[in-house]
Amino acid sequence: MSPRANWSYPTAIRFGAGRISELAEACAAAGMKRPLLVTDRGLASLPITINALELLEAAGLGRAMFSEVDPNPNEKNLEAGVAMFKSGGHDGVIAFGGGSGLDLGKLIAFQAGQARPVWDFEDIGDWWTRADASAIAPIIAVPTTAGTGSEVGRAGVLTNSVTHVKKIIFHPKLLPAVTICDPELTVGMPKIITVGTGMDAFAHCLEAYSSPFYHPMSQGIALEGMRLVKENLPLVIADGSNLDARAEMMSAAAMGAVAFQKGLGAIHALSHPIGAVYNTHHGMTNAVVMPPVLKMNRPAIEDRIARAASYMGIDGGFDGFYDYVMKLRADLGVPDKLAELGVGRDRIDEMTAMALEDPSAGGNPVTLTSENTKELFEACI
Ligand SMILES: NC(=O)c1ccc[n+]([C@@H]2O[C@H](COP(=O)([O-])OP(=O)(O)OC[C@H]3O[C@@H](n4cnc5c(N)ncnc54)[C@H](O)[C@@H]3O)[C@@H](O)[C@H]2O)c1
Ligand SMILES: [Fe+2]
Repeated sequence: MSPRANWSYPTAIRFGAGRISELAEACAAAGMKRPLLVTDRGLASLPITINALELLEAAGLGRAMFSEVDPNPNEKNLEAGVAMFKSGGHDGVIAFGGGSGLDLGKLIAFQAGQARPVWDFEDIGDWWTRADASAIAPIIAVPTTAGTGSEVGRAGVLTNSVTHVKKIIFHPKLLPAVTICDPELTVGMPKIITVGTGMDAFAHCLEAYSSPFYHPMSQGIALEGMRLVKENLPLVIADGSNLDARAEMMSAAAMGAVAFQKGLGAIHALSHPIGAVYNTHHGMTNAVVMPPVLKMNRPAIEDRIARAASYMGIDGGFDGFYDYVMKLRADLGVPDKLAELGVGRDRIDEMTAMALEDPSAGGNPVTLTSENTKELFEACI
C-alpha cells in the first residue's frame, strides 16, 4: 500500500491515496460551508474534478467551480475569480490543480477581501503587512501535479498580462488551512507535465540546497527531496500508475516548497521571465536551464554538491552530479535548448533585466550581473 499519514507541518496535510474522499471533512475543518472550487480549464472537465464537485454536492456544500484560469495565471483571471467568489457568497476556496489552479485559487481567497490592488502585495520587504489579514478567506489545497509545492506555500505567482512580468504575491495566510495530497489524482497527468513538474520539484530542492543563506532545516529537506526525485521520477515515467512512486513525488514537491524558504536562484530567475514572455511550461523551462546554471555556480557550490552526490548514490562529486542531471534530462526527453520551446534570441536584453529584478536572483550562490546573466541566456537558448 502506498504511504498514508496525517501531518501538521507546515500545515494540516492529509496524505495518501484516495484521501480526496475526505474533501467535505476538510471543508468542515477549515470552516467552509459554501466553497468555490478553483481549477484550470484543462482540469475542469476531467473525472477527478467532477468527482470532487460531486463529493461537495453530496455533502450539501454546493458544486461551484471557477475554471477561467490560464497556464501562467494573470490578474484578469484573478479579477474574474474574485467577482464569482463575491457574487456566489462563497466563504472559502478549494484550490484544485497544478500550480496554476492552486495559485489562482489561493489568490482569489486572499484578494476577495482586499481594497488595494493585488500588485501592492508583491513579496518585497514587509509589503504583506498592507493586507487586511482578517478578510482572507480559508483555503484548502488539492494538488493534481507533483511539482510546484504551492499546496504548502505562502505565495502565489501571478503574471501581469500587460507587462508580462511574473510577480510573487506573498502573505502568511496564503498557506492553505488544509491540504489533501492524494497521489491518485496525479496518475492521469500527461507525461510531459509529469516530467516538467517533477523537474520543478527537483529545481526547488537543488536551488534551495545551493543558496548561500543559513537555514539548515531547509538544507536537510532539500537534500532528501532531491533523493526522492532521483529514485522516483524515472519510476513514474516508466509506469504512470505506480502509486508508491507518485506518492514519493508528491512528498518531494511539498518538500521543495518548504525548502525554498531558504532561497531559490538563477534557474528560477531565468525561468520566470522566459515563462512570462513566451508562456513556456515553468518546470520544463527550469529543466532546460539547469545545466548551464550549475556550471556557472560551480565555484561556489562544488563541495556542497559533492556531498549531495554522495548522499544520492552518485559517484564522481560535482562532475558526477552534473552528468547525472544531463542523463536525467535526456532520459526524460527534456529539450537541450530553449529554442526547442520556442524561445528566440531577440528579447535577451529585456529578459536579462527581468531576471536581475526577480526575487529568486538574490539566492543564487554566484552574484548575478548583467554580463553573466546574459551569457546564461545565450548558453540556454
Ligand atoms: N506558488 C509557488 O510557490 C509556485 C512554485 C513554482 C511554480 N509556480 C507556478 O505554478 C504554475 C505551474 O504549475 P504546474 O507546473 O503544476 O502546471 P499547471 O498547473 O499549469 O498545469 C499544467 C497542465 O497540466 C494539466 N493537469 C494538471 N494536473 C493534471 C492531472 N492530474 N491530469 C491531467 N492534466 C492535469 C493542467 O490542466 C494544465 O493544462 C506556474 O504558473 C508557476 O509559475 C508556483
Ligand atoms: Fe518552480
